[in-house]
Amino acid sequence: MKLLVANWKMNPATFGAAEKLARATAEASRGASCEVVVCPPFVWLTDLSHKKNQKIKWGAQDVFWKETGAFTGEISPLMLKSSGVGYAIIGHSERRALGETDEMINLKIKASLRAGLKIILCVGESLAVRRKGLAAAKRFVLNQMRTDLRGIQNLKPKTSNLFIAYEPIWAISTSGTGLVDTPEKAGAMAKSIKKSWRGMKVLYGGSVTSKNAAGFVKYPGLDGALVGGASLRAEEFKKIIKTAAGTKVPK
Ligand code: PGA
Repeated sequence: MKLLVANWKMNPATFGAAEKLARATAEASRGASCEVVVCPPFVWLTDLSHKKNQKIKWGAQDVFWKETGAFTGEISPLMLKSSGVGYAIIGHSERRALGETDEMINLKIKASLRAGLKIILCVGESLAVRRKGLAAAKRFVLNQMRTDLRGIQNLKPKTSNLFIAYEPIWAISTSGTGLVDTPEKAGAMAKSIKKSWRGMKVLYGGSVTSKNAAGFVKYPGLDGALVGGASLRAEEFKKIIKTAAGTKVPK
């Protein structure tokens, strides 16, 4: 089954709008044969996730690495788990841009796995790296993964608890480049990742819309998509859900 992750980022502006969007997303997911994980801002996560009879799952956009303590403004994996939140996005490029290091990301991943959360680790190269070619981008991404995932083998994580979101930074809709990766190149990246990390599921993220979703989610080796901007428009996201649900996973 394909996985779609809706990353709402710091949107929408009000709780009323968030409720409406969550309701429409849940409605669109009902009966669809794909997994849908919605990651709203923290402030609404439990309110929205505690509504009954929803087909969607819930995720956080970030998480801290300690269980409790004097860490003003942070949220722990244990808190998420006890609130019924199952997933956490870790290492999004917008957080890395705010100063989050690979070492911090590594601590967050380990703490989240210990707490039993499913992890969506975001990796991806800058435009400067990509301009050197796909081989250079692959080296960058694999190196990023080695650092971010260092030592996790000791925790014996189930592969079903780990997802990579390959998000070339230059392709994210707000990057301003207006560029989008191709399914072929994203698929080639996923193949390299899976060669180094057996059984790893790879999502593509970076300006996925209803127009290009089929190309990405149907591409062999891509297991779904992480959708930002397009997940904020209910009708648009519904089309993406339909596309992912209609996709057979190759054996
Ligand atoms: P986008 O965002 O779909 O708006 O490009 C993806 C992401 O940054 O997670």
